[in-house]
Amino acid sequence: MVVRILSPSMLSIDFGHMSDELINITAAGVDTIHVDVMDGVFVPNISFGPPVIKYVRRAIPDARLDVHMMVQDPVRYLDAINAYNIWSFTIHAEATEHLEDDLRRIREAGVRAGVAISPDTPVSSIEHVLGLADMVLVMSVYPGFGGQSFIPGSLDKIRRVAELRESGGYSYNIEVDGGVVLDNLDLILEAGADVIVAGSAIFGDNTADNAREFLDRIR
Ligand code: DX5
Ligand code: ZN
Repeated sequence: MVVRILSPSMLSIDFGHMSDELINITAAGVDTIHVDVMDGVFVPNISFGPPVIKYVRRAIPDARLDVHMMVQDPVRYLDAINAYNIWSFTIHAEATEHLEDDLRRIREAGVRAGVAISPDTPVSSIEHVLGLADMVLVMSVYPGFGGQSFIPGSLDKIRRVAELRESGGYSYNIEVDGGVVLDNLDLILEAGADVIVAGSAIFGDNTADNAREFLDRIR
């Protein structure tokens, strides 16, 4: 049986009440938080970095931190972020010229190494690094902002990543990120995603209820 993971994206949190919201959502049963780091270079938006992650860790000491680096040359920040004992560190194939070395470095740090592809990047461009990946992240929106609509073509990419896992004998997780809502969840799960990111569909007025509903649906 597949163990699926819900990874709510902090990008949609009310940062004025960050700690309370994190405590609230983990009390609802969430054990993983998706942490979107943006540099204003790789994507046209800036989010937060290590100084904020420090307080995320303090608020929820036991949660898995699923870090999504939307940053050029992301491994520069690996040590500063892993100081807070993260679960995964996912880098974009488009953001580095030494993807294989970077994935190796992440694993050497004792962190799960993730490789992400943006909507215009084909799965074939990461086939050569699948043996170095603990997670493949299929972006289902253009990275940079929460609240966008799911790009339907992402389903085929998820299916392809799942086929390659099967044929290659790999065991990486398949993560989907962007525009995930309850209405498209079944299609996404059927395609083969097992780590489900959702931001704007979870954080808001009914954070705990939304999280519970997602958890019920993916289990
Ligand atoms: C987008 C981020 C996502 C985003 C998802 O660039 O990587 O994690 O927060 O937000 P929703 O679920 O609202 O599309
Ligand atoms: Zn993300």
